[in-house]
Amino acid sequence: MSVLAAVVLCAGKGTRMKSEKAKVLHPILGRPLCAYPLKRALELGATSVVPVVGHQAEAVEKAVRGLFPDAPLRFALQREQRGTADAVRSAEEALKGYSGRVLILYGDVPLLRRETLEALLAAHDQAGGKLAMVTTTLEDPTGYGRVIRDGGKVTRIVEHKDCTPEQRAVRECNAGIYSVDADFLWKALAEIKPQNAQGEYYLTDLVEMAAKRGPVGSVEADATETAGVNDRVELAARARVLQQRINEAHMRAGVSLQDPATAYIEEGVTVGPDTEIGPSVTLAAGTVVGKGCTIGQGSVLHASTVADGTLIKPYSVLEEARVGERNVIGPFSRLRPGTELAEDVHLGNFVETKKARIGKGSKANHLTYLGDAVIGSGCNVGAGTITCNYDGVNKHLTELGDGVFIGSDTQLVAPVKVGDGSYVGAGTTVTKNVPPGSLAVSRTPQVTKEGWVATKKARQAKARAG
Ligand code: UD1
Ligand code: CA
Repeated sequence: MSVLAAVVLCAGKGTRMKSEKAKVLHPILGRPLCAYPLKRALELGATSVVPVVGHQAEAVEKAVRGLFPDAPLRFALQREQRGTADAVRSAEEALKGYSGRVLILYGDVPLLRRETLEALLAAHDQAGGKLAMVTTTLEDPTGYGRVIRDGGKVTRIVEHKDCTPEQRAVRECNAGIYSVDADFLWKALAEIKPQNAQGEYYLTDLVEMAAKRGPVGSVEADATETAGVNDRVELAARARVLQQRINEAHMRAGVSLQDPATAYIEEGVTVGPDTEIGPSVTLAAGTVVGKGCTIGQGSVLHASTVADGTLIKPYSVLEEARVGERNVIGPFSRLRPGTELAEDVHLGNFVETKKARIGKGSKANHLTYLGDAVIGSGCNVGAGTITCNYDGVNKHLTELGDGVFIGSDTQLVAPVKVGDGSYVGAGTTVTKNVPPGSLAVSRTPQVTKEGWVATKKARQAKARAG
């Protein structure tokens, strides 16, 4: 059976987070906790994914929709937290008419790997019963549901609070992650009663019900993988594991990380081989870095593309920027959305670009703002050049042709064009278009008064004496 749907429990309040924000929205490595299990379900090809929301339902729904705008999500609301079985049951309506397998995941368990879920589905198929589950063996199983087996076969789960002393000694625990046949699931959920130590509807009762109808499949997963998040200490600990997992994958694929402990590479980032990443670098989602690049210390790249052989010097910040091959950027450059750089472009310290298209081999090496600009190839933009792109109401375009030389401390008052091969003298305020091959200068002529200092000093001395 290949069809799959998923229910992801995201209703919890997360009291121990001590936060105004719903627990599942707290970020780990740049994305909310619940983004990870949701992503896993989508990767496995789930045709419907039902996030069960409750606490701050609207905020959670909005955030999740924003994260996965095109995904087949159907939200379900659990008004009151009456237990895990009740939470899953709230998804029934959203999956009405569906009769394949339902994967049940927790929104606060971010480290579960796709491979483990694939093994869970395979175990479900292989056992051929109504349900399969993930188990994990813990040093200290306090608080968890224990997996009770008879002759190796799973027969039921007993929650910690309902355990006999003998059952308490069992260290194999229920991870809370299951694959269940939909038809069985909804029927069984309707029969579950809150008759237990906590007076809750226990999803774990399903296991005993399934065991009576056939074999229960199980896969064992590592405890780090199935660990949830209850407070901010655990949040940071899970983030550390995720970071290490991602960083090691990049290193094995040929990327050098100078300090893997401080390189923050989010899920879904691509980095080519022989690229070197410095300490304290962040590569956020949607970033693609080519091969043979260097990303210097402290740089932060969001949804940006960097082509092969480019050097990003330390402390540069790129946001939705496209950087071509063999560029040299930074230190301290800021490339904002809409920046598109061709090959061999150099942007130096304190250069800011926004919606700027810059042609091959052009340079702006110092203290410059290029916003709403189209710059040809082979241009040299001098220190302190500024595009005055905003008139207080609208933004206007600055266009430089090929081979243009802009002297230092120039203001380009947009809309304005400087034609191919033209020169603009230092200190010029360009307000009118400059035709190709011209020189534009706007300066008040220099006045030089020789001997002026001595004369002034003599005057001051005379005033003091008198
Ligand atoms: C549950 C399992 C336990 C397992 C453990 C693993 C049950 C009865 N017990 O216990 O066997 O070892 O997980 O972590 O299922 N939730 C809702 N709505 C509710 C209740 C819970 O959305 O009404 C969500 C929580 O936000 C959380 C998840 O379901 O994400 C698990 O709930 P929790 O109360 O933590 O279950 P445990 O007591 O830990
Ligand atoms: Ca829990």
